[in-house]
Amino acid sequence: MQMRKLGPDKVSALGLGCMGMSHGYGRPDNIESACVLHRALDLGCTLLDTAALYGFGLNESLIGATLRERRNEFILATKGGMFRNAAGQREIDARPEILKRSCEDSLRRLRTDAIDLYYLHRVDPRVPLEESIGALAEFVHAGKIRALGLSEVSAATLRRAHALHPIAAVQSEYSLCTRNPELRILDTCHELGVAFVAFSPLARAFLTGTLRNLTLLPPADIRRKMPRFQQPHFERNLALLEQFERVAHEHSCTPAQLALAWLLARCPEIIAIPGTTCLAHLEENFAVAELNLPPEALVRADSIVNRHTVSGPRYDAVQQREIDTEEFPNAA
Ligand SMILES: NC(=O)c1ccc[n+]([C@@H]2O[C@H](COP(=O)([O-])OP(=O)(O)OC[C@H]3O[C@@H](n4cnc5c(N)ncnc54)[C@H](OP(=O)(O)O)[C@@H]3O)[C@@H](O)[C@H]2O)c1
Repeated sequence: MQMRKLGPDKVSALGLGCMGMSHGYGRPDNIESACVLHRALDLGCTLLDTAALYGFGLNESLIGATLRERRNEFILATKGGMFRNAAGQREIDARPEILKRSCEDSLRRLRTDAIDLYYLHRVDPRVPLEESIGALAEFVHAGKIRALGLSEVSAATLRRAHALHPIAAVQSEYSLCTRNPELRILDTCHELGVAFVAFSPLARAFLTGTLRNLTLLPPADIRRKMPRFQQPHFERNLALLEQFERVAHEHSCTPAQLALAWLLARCPEIIAIPGTTCLAHLEENFAVAELNLPPEALVRADSIVNRHTVSGPRYDAVQQREIDTEEFPNAA
């Protein structure tokens, strides 16, 4: 597995996104998820990604309980600043006292003395950035966090935060389907020496070709609220998928592998964190390390699935308001 720089560390170019094991998609199965976590480390994965939000603490507890004996084998990244409120809804809250409590809770659930990388999950527009970053910097000085990250931020916010305290990584959505990082943040990460961690690199399973029937999604699946997984966008995007799958087939790889190979070839700062709860999918995704796809395959993938061809915005209006990133106007 290729290694890439992330703050003071080097990590495998593919990490493992753990969200789906407790949150968002499908039906969680802790036993299968524990097998996936162990197998990921066995395959050379050295970056695990979680958040206080995922399963409202359950995802961190799962990782802490499953991998406590293997804690020195991986870089552990979690996030704070987005929680479930008293009404049971998702809420952004990055006030210093909330972040401090959240970080202590994460340490306890993760059964660790220090979190390698702690992201501000979302910038809280009601709280000055200096206050949120200042609170996290105190945890760095206390040795409870080793490095800081930001999620879904603009280049301007990254620069401001980086001037307050070194930022090791920015995590934002990036895939063939979602190209916003190409607007500014990738260049800014390159300039500042900040790693870029691409989340939802498989476009939330769309690019794997296995999600074609939306009626099979469980009622609480978060994709149901996402415009690209609603009609008429989904039907239009399926037409792209067919062409994309043909390219993968011609190059003897799977669509998921083609999507990940495209991403890793974009620039050396990128680390991708595909999420899976399934051993076979994990092995398929990590086999991308052995693939040597010709540039022509990546160029064709890029010309089929891009911001001009994908139909629909990635988020609904509520989630769109929660992010701070520069966004391309929607193509359709
Ligand atoms: N910072 C943020 O705000 C933010 C937001 C979203 C996600 N994230 C992080 O990014 C990680 C990855 O993103 P994501 O999980 O949203 O999306 P993703 O990685 O693009 O896709 C995950 C989905 O693809 C499926 N999948 C994975 N590999 C597959 C394969 N080879 N064949 C068929 N299906 C496959 C998974 O189902 P199976 O389980 O069945 O494999 C799951 O439904 C998350 O786990 C989380 O850690 C961060």
